[in-house]
Amino acid sequence: MKRVKIMVDQEYDVIIGENILNRSGEFMPKSKIYNKAYIITDDNVLPIYFESVGKSLEKIGLKVFKHILPNGELSKSVQALKIILEDMAENGFDREDIVIALGGGVIGDISGLAAAVYLRGIDYIQIPTTFLSAIDSSVGGKTAVNLEHGKNLMGAFKQPLAVIFDVVSLNTLNDEIFADGTAEAIKYGVLKSPSLFKKLCNFSRSSLMEIMPEIVSECVAIKGEIVSCDEFDRGERQLLNFGHTIGHSIEKCSGYAITHGRAVAAGMAVITKGAAKLGLIPNFSIYDQICEALKRHELPIKCDFSACEIYNSVLSDKKRKSENINIVLPAEIGRCELKKISLETMYSIIKEGLDG
Ligand SMILES: NC(=O)c1ccc[n+]([C@@H]2O[C@H](COP(=O)([O-])OP(=O)(O)OC[C@H]3O[C@@H](n4cnc5c(N)ncnc54)[C@H](O)[C@@H]3O)[C@@H](O)[C@H]2O)c1
Repeated sequence: MKRVKIMVDQEYDVIIGENILNRSGEFMPKSKIYNKAYIITDDNVLPIYFESVGKSLEKIGLKVFKHILPNGELSKSVQALKIILEDMAENGFDREDIVIALGGGVIGDISGLAAAVYLRGIDYIQIPTTFLSAIDSSVGGKTAVNLEHGKNLMGAFKQPLAVIFDVVSLNTLNDEIFADGTAEAIKYGVLKSPSLFKKLCNFSRSSLMEIMPEIVSECVAIKGEIVSCDEFDRGERQLLNFGHTIGHSIEKCSGYAITHGRAVAAGMAVITKGAAKLGLIPNFSIYDQICEALKRHELPIKCDFSACEIYNSVLSDKKRKSENINIVLPAEIGRCELKKISLETMYSIIKEGLDG
């Protein structure tokens, strides 16, 4: 079993192991005795993993409640959040109780937000069950739901007390959802680790599974390091948005039919290609390398939306600051830079990135 410490104000461990879901109770923080657990999950995850987690929590004396959302991005909504909060109140939840997010990033994001706002904040734990949520969304304390204007526009920073990840839970993912996680892993490689990037270029899903604890701990360590320098997203943490400005727009333009990971994959390729064409990054070799890695995992490198559609959606994205926008550009594999550009340049990047 591996543990990666996330050194934020209230530090916590990401616990990575095999067949550990039925031991979830053992990993609960020892600092407090809880009465009830509110497990939020979705209809895909429920029949596979709820029982082992629920039983394990009952074993340590918790009364377990469950809340099941339909799977998919559309559940990350204000309406779904309200129903969760009303249900917690109905069942008398208070600060001696705990929320458990059992599922992918959608479940993690909405559960974290419910924990952040219910009674002005109660404790919560993340139990990610997708590759993407294990290496990204469960760590770092960004919680959110979507508004009609765009992704994650309602949210809060709320760190979990622990993250418990069972590698075995990835076995039940279909290839497409597994690849969504690979897109975010490729992002970490481009941001900080040429060696991780190389593995992702060379390895198939099955060979990645053989070294999954190592891959997850490396990604989580990279995210943890960035988040510990900038917990509240004022500078360095924005690097984690590589591919996300365009990615979020692709997701939104598709009515969330395109998944987050695939949208980020296309977002990374489009922004890198557009920036290379405008001379904002040194050459096309970075673009070629990113495309090679993405294609290896059958991830998209472009999308069918027009530059206007993507640009209009970018305008309502939360990362826009007045007439300028901060974007992340790769300088080389393993090093990225934040750059403030005008909206006009943003439009040109999108146009050039989608062209051809
Ligand atoms: N908070 C953050 O820092 C952060 C970072 C990255 C992404 N996100 C968010 O994460 C979300 C994407 O997360 P995701 O890719 O995990 O999507 P998801 O939560 O929608 O899960 C994808 C699908 O996999 C199913 N599933 C989950 N675990 C399974 C398992 N073990 N076996 C079989 N099926 C399983 C789900 O039911 C769902 O249908 C997006 O909303 C994105 O905005 C947040």
